[in-house]
Amino acid sequence: MSIHNHQNEAICFSNMAKGLAMSAALPCDTVWTGARLLPMTDRAQPDTVIDNALIAAVDGRIVYAGPAAAAPAYDAQRVIACGGRLVTPGLIDCHTHLVYGGSRAGEFEARLAGASYEAIARAGGGIVSTMRATRAATEAELIAASAPRLAELVAEGVTTVEIKSGYGLELASERTMLRAARALGEAQHVAVSTTFLGAHALPPEFSDNADGYIDAVVDGMLPVLAAEGLVDAVDAFCEGIGFSVAQVERVFAAARALGIPVKVHAEQLSNLHGAALAARYGALSADHLEHLDGAGIGAMAAAGTVATLLPGAYYFTRETVLPPIDGLRAAGVPIALATDCNPGTSPMTSLLLTMNMGATLFRMTVAECLAAVTINAARALGREDIGTVARGAWADLAIWNVDQPAELVYRIGGRPLHARYWRGH
Ligand code: NIG
Ligand code: FE
Repeated sequence: MSIHNHQNEAICFSNMAKGLAMSAALPCDTVWTGARLLPMTDRAQPDTVIDNALIAAVDGRIVYAGPAAAAPAYDAQRVIACGGRLVTPGLIDCHTHLVYGGSRAGEFEARLAGASYEAIARAGGGIVSTMRATRAATEAELIAASAPRLAELVAEGVTTVEIKSGYGLELASERTMLRAARALGEAQHVAVSTTFLGAHALPPEFSDNADGYIDAVVDGMLPVLAAEGLVDAVDAFCEGIGFSVAQVERVFAAARALGIPVKVHAEQLSNLHGAALAARYGALSADHLEHLDGAGIGAMAAAGTVATLLPGAYYFTRETVLPPIDGLRAAGVPIALATDCNPGTSPMTSLLLTMNMGATLFRMTVAECLAAVTINAARALGREDIGTVARGAWADLAIWNVDQPAELVYRIGGRPLHARYWRGH
């Protein structure tokens, strides 16, 4: 079937003949017609919806996206009528720990009774308790436990997810986590970006020897996992209950030597200046940032490091210090939002709710929230070929049963997704 600048397929057939006779139509395998397109092409400008837009793709890549009236003649096997629905880029969750074993519901109850996240961690619970459950699980068991969490994200239009290791804390278990993450992406038709977070917490076998554990991370784990193709980025938890700036810097230096980009968990509970360190290493993103100061903002702005804010963790830990949104905005730091899906601080599998929290808790605008889970989230993963509906990008699309973009940020609950396309399918 071919189409020529028109939503109405009956008319397309007659135009096809004309178009083909005049010049060969640009081949494409799939065309979406009748879209109200929010292309997210420019993070600096609040995007406007293009009514009656047409998107064309070949082999999963977009070859045209824009007004149907301006589209060239195309030759497509498949035409999908969007029926005037809102179409956005497929959503990107750029910070998750969704592969893990066990549950921390009991720890949640302890926190409700007054224990703090930090106190639980220092008493051998927290990340280390999830480490025990994760080490005890096989790859198949981790996949089975994590698949429903990924499915919930996918059901809301997510087409790319970042998944971190960091609950194995030794080579074999970190490998199992990363392999499980890759397998989950293949099974659910979603792109998975894997991040090695060996420096997440100190495993018990290295108690009182954090530097020795960092040796194991940089010499024993990272080079091996990178050689196996399991590491798209390297992350570290720079915090009193995590690792010091000096220890994190050793991890970043090792990543740099291997040519792997870095990210950081920083300024979540205190200000150790981890974001500025990450910026010095050209980090893709610095994440959490409730306690970030002006110097950290300046360093991130200069380096082009994305601020990934995690309102689910802010909410769930009942944090009261807000990340410095106005300062980030004024400095032009791109802001992403992510679920931080993890068993301890953000047992959350809704990127739509994350956007709502970005607006209600962090006072972000609708346009900022939408950019935060599309074009800016892509940048937090070092990607320019996702998070936008534009020529050359992957045809990752979310088609919504809503009238206006604000509906996606405004609602709490509901299932607004009509259809999701990942790489054209
Ligand atoms: O992003 N801050 C460190 N890592 C996670 C929490 C992990 C956990 O508690 O299991 C976070 O909040
Ligand atoms: Fe996290």
